[in-house]
Amino acid sequence: MTAGLDPVKVMKQEVGRAAASRVQSGTVVGLGTGSTTAFAIQFLGERLSSGELKDIKGVPTSFQASVLAKQYGIPLTTLDEIEKIDIAIDGADEVDPQKNLIKGGGAAHTREKLVDSLADLFIVVVDSSKLVDRLGSTFPLPLEVLPLAIAPVTRAVEKLGGQPALRMAVKKDGPVITDQGNMIIDVKFTAIDSPAELEKTLNNIPGVLDNGLFVGLADLILVGEVKDGQPSVREI
Ligand code: 5RP
Repeated sequence: MTAGLDPVKVMKQEVGRAAASRVQSGTVVGLGTGSTTAFAIQFLGERLSSGELKDIKGVPTSFQASVLAKQYGIPLTTLDEIEKIDIAIDGADEVDPQKNLIKGGGAAHTREKLVDSLADLFIVVVDSSKLVDRLGSTFPLPLEVLPLAIAPVTRAVEKLGGQPALRMAVKKDGPVITDQGNMIIDVKFTAIDSPAELEKTLNNIPGVLDNGLFVGLADLILVGEVKDGQPSVREI
């Protein structure tokens, strides 16, 4: 690897390229959110402009994904226009050994879950720092919450044993506002023993739109690694 390059960036680039190389002509592609997926979108655009890939349509999971898709010349469509998504590519904040995920670091998990869950093949692109033995060990669990429900949802989450924190914006005063106009509560749990159960329990709290637990959705995890200075991509 060229000296001076940021190894995390290199890992993200390599998995992004590996995921983009699996997309075939004539397919509908779910376009995830985040810095790793951004590389996949860039490489998809490069394959289109070189003529190697033809006639794909992207379904963006966020404003960021749609801006990048337009920048790289990927035609977009909506869930109203299509019957199925062939492949979705998306990042994650944590991945456990059962391929369950925590997502929502970019506050886009509600639309991401919608799009990723409709795909025949959902590929997750991560660098090796995202692999954990147990979900919740390094990253708090994001909930997208209606603004008027922040106080009751906060109390409900505390009753479940979580430590909630309203996500604050950077370079803007006040809370993060999602693409749908809602807010994010990040919840630290001491242990997430049953992700499937917790996902349902949290989504059952009135005012919660969705939480960042993705259980049983991922088909393939592509993990970017750097060993002896050489980047590589491993499949799980
Ligand atoms: C956005 C997400 C992202 O996919 C997740 O935060 C990973 O991002 P990155 O690839 O930048 O580490 O869930 O809501």
